[in-house]
Amino acid sequence: MSEQATSFPRDFVWGAATASYQIEGAATEDGRGESVWDRFCATPGKVRNGDTGAVACDFYHRYRDDIGLMRELGIDVFRFSIAWPRVLPTGRGAVNAKGLDFYDRLVDELLGNGIEPYVTLFHWDTPQALEDEGGWPARGIVDAFEEYVEAVGERLGDRVGNWITHNEPWVVAWVGHGWGHHAPGRTSDADALATAHHLLVSHGRAVEILRRHSPGARVGITLNLDFPYAASDDPEDIAAARWVDGLHNRWFLDPIFRGEYPSDMLEAFQDLMPPIEDGDLKTISAPIDFLGVNNYTSPLVAADENGGRSRILHRADVDRTDMGWEVVPEGLHDLLVRLHRDYEPPAIYITENGAAWADVRGHDGSVLDPERTSYLAEYIDAAGRAIADGAPLRGYFAWSLLDNFEWAWGYWKRFGLIYVDYATLERVPKGSFYWYRDFIAGQRATAEAAA
Ligand code: FCB
Repeated sequence: MSEQATSFPRDFVWGAATASYQIEGAATEDGRGESVWDRFCATPGKVRNGDTGAVACDFYHRYRDDIGLMRELGIDVFRFSIAWPRVLPTGRGAVNAKGLDFYDRLVDELLGNGIEPYVTLFHWDTPQALEDEGGWPARGIVDAFEEYVEAVGERLGDRVGNWITHNEPWVVAWVGHGWGHHAPGRTSDADALATAHHLLVSHGRAVEILRRHSPGARVGITLNLDFPYAASDDPEDIAAARWVDGLHNRWFLDPIFRGEYPSDMLEAFQDLMPPIEDGDLKTISAPIDFLGVNNYTSPLVAADENGGRSRILHRADVDRTDMGWEVVPEGLHDLLVRLHRDYEPPAIYITENGAAWADVRGHDGSVLDPERTSYLAEYIDAAGRAIADGAPLRGYFAWSLLDNFEWAWGYWKRFGLIYVDYATLERVPKGSFYWYRDFIAGQRATAEAAA
């Protein structure tokens, strides 16, 4: 494993990330309503092994102990999401106070332990009642989201200093509505594009609401971004990489930071676009305080001889995680530098980065995961080099604190720094947990020595 070549600024924050449906469980407790993921999991053939988030890591009941583990890890910040159906069980209308109470306790427990909460409002658990009314492809959901943000902002706005409106709109749009691999399982390009637009408009509205309820707080959005490399200098490969960049990155970055959809992509999608109302792009481009970046890999892209727009190549010379994702730390460096150059966000946080490996417990009960440790060390090193190259990176969140429900893969894929034995719900910190703990402590010591 490489020695860390870089040191991070003194005020850089280190954290871990999670999401409500992936860890909470307690799916029918305290008035929580049904989400599209409950429904999707209950639909045969959608989630591997028939797994569901009904129990997950039982974080809903075990959060105090898990915060104890966070303290042991030494993280400054913890990213979690709020389950919309806990707050508004049918998506709009009556607020379920007990649902909000849980997040109230969680925020207080974190703050009491010196850990700053970074709260994501939407990490994919749409109330099923809203899906039944047309879901994200129908514009009416924007008003429902506003109601939800009002309720959360009013209750937690005095204590939460960092808000993330949405997590990975590209995944919700395309994986959930275009290809049907995620809830709600729709398969329409027009639905995907309408979903993306409504997520973006609701993001802009949420920024305004949060500024009102949480005046001192910083507000951002998390996008899944990557650095598509062209397979060669051939103009056709370069055009193919530009297409993938348009699809994954520019489609979201351009409206947020420039108030316009990218014209080349708009031309390609023109017949599928939802109505764009006057003022939408102004709403979407409301100034934000930071950009959240989720990055795991970066594709190598070539022209598609079969007439498609692009083809993702498999690199022969890199490691692959248990997801089959290629380990490309340089992609994170190049991405961060590019974001700074092309969009100049005031600050960037890596809100997710990490790797799945097929972890097992050894005879002594421990879990050794040197591959995850190297992955984290290499990506963190790449992030540090991006800071040296000018990127305004302010923090890093490892995905994830705990092994958890990995969407359509169920519990098969383990991303945690902490192993979860799902039969007993026992937590076992992995080797990478101790590495990250020591790394954070080392960074702190270096920063203090330099001060
Ligand atoms: C991201 C999701 C997160 C997790 C990781 C592995 O796309 O935001 O919930 O599933 O991938």
